[in-house]
Amino acid sequence: MPAVLFTGLLVFSFSHAAELSEVELRGKQIYLTGNTPSGAAISAILGVDQIELPASAAPCGSCHGIDGRGRPEGGVIPSDITWSELSKGYGHEHVFDRRHPAFDDASLAVSIIGGTDPAGNALDMAMPRYRMERQDIDALVAYIKRIEADLDSGLSEDSVTVGTLLPLSGPAASQGQAIQAVLAAFIRELNAGGGVNGRRVELEVIPLGNSPAETVENVRGVMGSSGLFALVATYVTHVESQLASVLTDAEIPIIGPITRTPTARADRLKNAYYLYAGNSELIQSMRQFAASEGRSTVELAYSDPEFEAVKTAASMSGSDDVFFLGTATELKELIGALAQAQTWPRIFLPATAVTPELLNAPLEFDGRIFVAYPTQPSDVSAGGRELFARLASTDELSNAHISSQISALAAARILVEAMQRAGHSLSRERLIAEIEGMNGYPTGLTPPISYGLNRRIGARGAHIVRLDLAGGRLVPAAAWKELPQAR
Ligand code: HEC
Repeated sequence: MPAVLFTGLLVFSFSHAAELSEVELRGKQIYLTGNTPSGAAISAILGVDQIELPASAAPCGSCHGIDGRGRPEGGVIPSDITWSELSKGYGHEHVFDRRHPAFDDASLAVSIIGGTDPAGNALDMAMPRYRMERQDIDALVAYIKRIEADLDSGLSEDSVTVGTLLPLSGPAASQGQAIQAVLAAFIRELNAGGGVNGRRVELEVIPLGNSPAETVENVRGVMGSSGLFALVATYVTHVESQLASVLTDAEIPIIGPITRTPTARADRLKNAYYLYAGNSELIQSMRQFAASEGRSTVELAYSDPEFEAVKTAASMSGSDDVFFLGTATELKELIGALAQAQTWPRIFLPATAVTPELLNAPLEFDGRIFVAYPTQPSDVSAGGRELFARLASTDELSNAHISSQISALAAARILVEAMQRAGHSLSRERLIAEIEGMNGYPTGLTPPISYGLNRRIGARGAHIVRLDLAGGRLVPAAAWKELPQAR
């Protein structure tokens, strides 16, 4: 075997589905795309005129379906080629009296290359004949024998099940219900318009349990019944680590996890795609902004568990910048101590540290307190507003929790866009590849969304706002700006 083929195998990257062997994965790629990782030519010979085309123009999956069960189209009926069907001891009887005994590996290969069934009957010309290298046909046969087990959970030929995990009882119930309602309305409209590439989207609303264990139990329950292709707008606060172990094993992606503080914990939930910047990105954005405004001499990033306001204030001068990550109470203490010391540094805060009380800070801080917001109402475009208003009017959505509903809708849009881009031969690995290929996708509800292999925050940047203490309001200081790509 030429060395180049081995190289091809090594760079083969179609490999998210953990249980398939390398050979089966190779077969899967051939089945779905008509291409082989070795780069060797595969051709399809089509119709009575025997037109030869690259197999990528007629991959198996386009007729037999990603699940091998066949998708009747334009009067032809591609056979069910799942192994349990092909290997039935008594063989089959097809329309037009084509009868044959069970397939085995060799006769399956013959049918693909030579177009005859195990009884030697010629298959209808609607089934192309293929030319490919020995190792490719072997891989394809190996995959067909596994296809039934390989279909991603929650995915069928004509439906895809998407879950959302929400608090439906307890103190956060109204937020959960508001999110549920907007997702249901969005998906109803989507399905009325034909779904996604011919698939209906089914929404499974999973209730958050009273304990992490109960929550995991609820998620497992849905995974075991309808299956779960992906999760959108999902509560992860307090259950991150428990969920991580279940979802990571099953490779279920979460688009738009809902965290209490927007701290992105990409390290814990391996398959999570967050919408907004967390505190560390907000701080980075503010550093950039502070630097662009010049002036700063010393920086103090503040998030010390043994915080002592007075000591901190004493160590500072008015030309310093404080990047503050503490609590609202600590902030109040710090501002008090700074005022005592008659020192007025610029203070930079993430949105989570803001309380209305902040507007009562001494006037010396006027124009010197800045807040970074991961998103602002101005990020919603005219189209986004129109979508929201349409869903709200037909479904009588509650007008509480608007920002949670906007985020949930954005997450659903990202998921649907990625599924659309993946096409009918959707799989989880394709979905993930499409999400990670997003570059500046306009949800109409958020800043532009980009993900990547190492980028799990879609809108990685911030709006910077200045506190106008005299006027008692927030004034935009810098429009939303994306952080430069992390190295
Ligand atoms: C353009 C549509 C089309 C494509 C592409 C296609 N097939 Fe088929 N296939 C059919 C149809 C239609 C039949 C039924 C033929 C008949 O009944 O005589 C069929 C029959 C078969 C059968 C015979 C099943 C039986 O029970 O007799 C096998 C096996 C098969 N296809 C495998 C494949 C594989 C593997 C590929 C990809 C390399 C492929 N097909 C690509 C349309 C297609």
